[in-house]
Amino acid sequence: MAEGISDYTKFAIDLRRHMWKAGVEIELRRLIWQIAVMGKYISAKIHESNRKLAGFKNIYGEEQLTLDRSADEILKNHLEDSGFVREYASEEREAIIQIGQGGEKYFVTADPLDGSSLVDTNLAIGTIIGIHKEPILTEGRETLVAAMYIMYGPLITMVYAAGKGAHEFVLNREGEYVLSEDNIRLKERGDIYSLGGLRSEWTPGHLKFVEYLEKESYKLRYSGGFVPDFNQVLIKRGGIFTYPALKENPRGKLRLLFELQPMAFIIEQAGGMATDGKQDILSIKVENLNQRCPVYIGSRFEVEKAKEFLAAA
Ligand code: AHG
Ligand code: MN
Ligand code: MN
Repeated sequence: MAEGISDYTKFAIDLRRHMWKAGVEIELRRLIWQIAVMGKYISAKIHESNRKLAGFKNIYGEEQLTLDRSADEILKNHLEDSGFVREYASEEREAIIQIGQGGEKYFVTADPLDGSSLVDTNLAIGTIIGIHKEPILTEGRETLVAAMYIMYGPLITMVYAAGKGAHEFVLNREGEYVLSEDNIRLKERGDIYSLGGLRSEWTPGHLKFVEYLEKESYKLRYSGGFVPDFNQVLIKRGGIFTYPALKENPRGKLRLLFELQPMAFIIEQAGGMATDGKQDILSIKVENLNQRCPVYIGSRFEVEKAKEFLAAA
């Protein structure tokens, strides 16, 4: 069972102090800190673009990077200077890039901007990060040592997990990440559900599972952004997010390496589960960078229930 820091001191705890007290290895905590800081720059870019940066020319006729690409550039440039990162893989790039000198300890994956199709609607969006201790795509082993996401909503929040629970921080007006939820633990069962994919494309087993949730009066909560949709399951201490296998797309939509592995790592640290409907997300072999995978992620009761319905169909 992961250990947290007592409520007694939590109001004074900033991210660096929290990681130090939790015993996170020094280079890893510096890296997590640096990535959290990059969240501020990405947020500044979101504000600067004011929803207009969608790959069009600006008023001077210059080509603009889309927000996803700008966020990717921010991450890559800062990670290059960090001194802790050997390889960087991003949803925005076709290949893994070598950004270190060769001796660095960590390998980073990123979905620099998740939910970019929501930018014009001003719904919450996020950045998802995985930190590995072996080269990305190392065969047959689970190599994640930490995962985090930053959510750009009414507040900017950051959740990290580095093997000692999952913890949420809020960026305060002084620009510091301050602990808001220490050692988040999911209940066995929640009461919200979040469902991706067209209903007409669902498989019979998945449809039966959804009908079960409806019968049990689960509340529907789907924004179309994985980060906020996942975040509400975590913060409400249970429930389920799923983007299932579809009839036309048996591998679903979300990406195993960039989106699902980090969130699976975080949910497990919070006492929840993540599967593709059969096996744990973290035990699925990643064969290529853009590999997609169905997902059922949340509290244990609902994820186990999904497995039962899918197996029976
Ligand atoms: P991205 O913006 O990084 O490409 O990811 C979008 C994802 C994810 O945020 C969300 O869960 C899913 O796409 C939504 O898909 P639908 O539009 O099919 O609901
Ligand atoms: Mn995404
Ligand atoms: Mn993205």
